[in-house]
Amino acid sequence: MEFRKVLGLTTGLLGLLAGLAVAEIPQANATPGPPGNKPGTLAGAAAHSGRYFGTAVTASKLGDPAYTTIANREFDMVTPENEMKLDATEPRQGQFVFTAADRIVDWAVENGKRVRGHTLLWHAAQPGWLQSLSSSALRQAMTDHINGVMSHYKGRIYAWDVVNEAFADGTGARRNSNFQRTGDDWIEAAFRAARAADPAAKLCYNDYNIENWASAKTQSVYAMVADFRARGVPIDCVGFQAHFGSGNPYDGSDLRTTLRNFAALGVDVQITELDIQAAPPATYAAVVNDCLAVPRCAGITVWGVRDPDSWRSGETPLLFDGNGDKKPAYTAVLHALRHGHHSHHGHG
Ligand code: XIL
Repeated sequence: MEFRKVLGLTTGLLGLLAGLAVAEIPQANATPGPPGNKPGTLAGAAAHSGRYFGTAVTASKLGDPAYTTIANREFDMVTPENEMKLDATEPRQGQFVFTAADRIVDWAVENGKRVRGHTLLWHAAQPGWLQSLSSSALRQAMTDHINGVMSHYKGRIYAWDVVNEAFADGTGARRNSNFQRTGDDWIEAAFRAARAADPAAKLCYNDYNIENWASAKTQSVYAMVADFRARGVPIDCVGFQAHFGSGNPYDGSDLRTTLRNFAALGVDVQITELDIQAAPPATYAAVVNDCLAVPRCAGITVWGVRDPDSWRSGETPLLFDGNGDKKPAYTAVLHALRHGHHSHHGHG
């Protein structure tokens, strides 16, 4: 009796020790992320380096099995394409509508995916009531909007695009908008309100045409983020939309330089709306490799599933064609995710 007890205890201890030993193994070769991540998918391949691979999703297509099959299989991060924008979520002042956005968030959570919230303050997609406000009334409405939307989704959003596209092309000055006319400090006021509304969400500044390091717009955004970090304004990430094409050509390894320089300010960087005119496989692979080279590049989101789903459908810029078949760009991205020289992205 005594002996069997001791033996049982010993076996139990050994089991405990074995369990501890397993727990001590570094996670470098493990596949983090949701259990739904299958090998041979974009999300599964990205997870090997601790990164996500996402897509924009539109609520109106969640009833289309051809669409949801691909979206569910290949991606582990979801961005509502339009459903969280101001005109959709607060069509009348103080009356919030989350029906369409909730469908996407519920679908994402049911399927083990995370969500990027897009976007709280943007000069476009504004409801009429907001466009007619100015000065302190507009400032108050901006804060109220942030509070209303972020409290509804509190704890369910990985990262919010708090402010979208606040800088002008060319000069790199602030874009002239109703928000800007309330004063230069509107962006930091938005980030402070956002931090208070959901402390668990990462807070991003998101913009387009800021991929090339030398451009004045990139430099202006960089200066703002550096200033925020220096003064303790809460910001956790910068989103690079990465809509590439003849109007905004992908320029060699310049994106990598930009990602590195922003990351050195102590923020995550993310590719948030990737699409490339005509979907050249080599360019898609190069963008993936740029992200993989920068430890603080947390992940990549493409702006839609199949070419006909794209806002630039005429340019066939995505990874799947209209039949849902994988394009050469898909194969190039998967290969880069699997075989690229990647740094690991830490979770947090
Ligand atoms: C686009 C959507 O894809 C379109 O469906 C919509 O008509 C306009 O907005 N930058 C952004 C995204 O931050 O929200 C935009 O999405 C594309 C450019």
